Amino acid sequence: MSAPLRPACVLLLGLSLAALSPCSACRFRIPPHDQVARVARFVAHQCDWASMATISTHKPVVGQPFSNAFSVSDGPPGSSSGVPYMYLTRMEISVQDLEVDRRASLSMSLAQTEYCRQQGFDPQSPLCAHIILSGSVLQVNGTEAEFAKKSLFSRHPEMIDWPTDHNWFFAKFNITQVLVLDYFGGVKTVTPEEYFQATPYRKHH
Ligand SMILES: *[C@@H]1O[C@H](CO)[C@@H](O)[C@H](O)[C@H]1NC(C)=O
Ligand SMILES: *[C@@H]1O[C@H](CO)[C@@H](O)[C@H](O)[C@H]1NC(C)=O
Repeated sequence: MSAPLRPACVLLLGLSLAALSPCSACRFRIPPHDQVARVARFVAHQCDWASMATISTHKPVVGQPFSNAFSVSDGPPGSSSGVPYMYLTRMEISVQDLEVDRRASLSMSLAQTEYCRQQGFDPQSPLCAHIILSGSVLQVNGTEAEFAKKSLFSRHPEMIDWPTDHNWFFAKFNITQVLVLDYFGGVKTVTPEEYFQATPYRKHH
């Protein structure tokens, strides 16, 4: 407990609302600014969805960036892998782009959680931590697909009932670059290795 807690934590830990489950409080324990890889992992685990940009294959915007919302999960609540998993169908417009060029970019922000609103941080403020992942979208099979299913269905229960004739499959976002916007001083780069080695939550001793 060497690092000082950020204001939201202090605020939340100070509250003793019966309505707050232990996990809704831990949602706000953002790692310190200087632990950039941990911040990235924290944001990736907190967000249930992401904006994904592909290179469009659809007229009249062929070749242009195309951003669309997707449900993601990097693991069931409290068990983060860092890998954003998705449940996709080839009937979907962005997935059709990925069939031609699997490169994409995922953006996730604590503006998607209660945190930035409660703190009064504008989504574009660097105080409202957000990450931009670059990489590509790859189908997963076998044991990794089993983990993807557990990760996604635990956080997006209605997926279980999505129409089977859409031929859904599990995919992962294969990360090649992680950019973090958290606090002042410009964008910070985290390598995939640093990202995967980091732990989003404080270790308890
Ligand atoms: C997963 O299975 C699909 C369909 O059989 C195949 O196209 C794809 O290459 C496989 N992916 C991996 C990572 O094995
Ligand atoms: C997946 O990402 C790693 C870097 O983390 C990269 O070395 C590898 O080439 C990527 N794989 C594919 C199939 O894009």
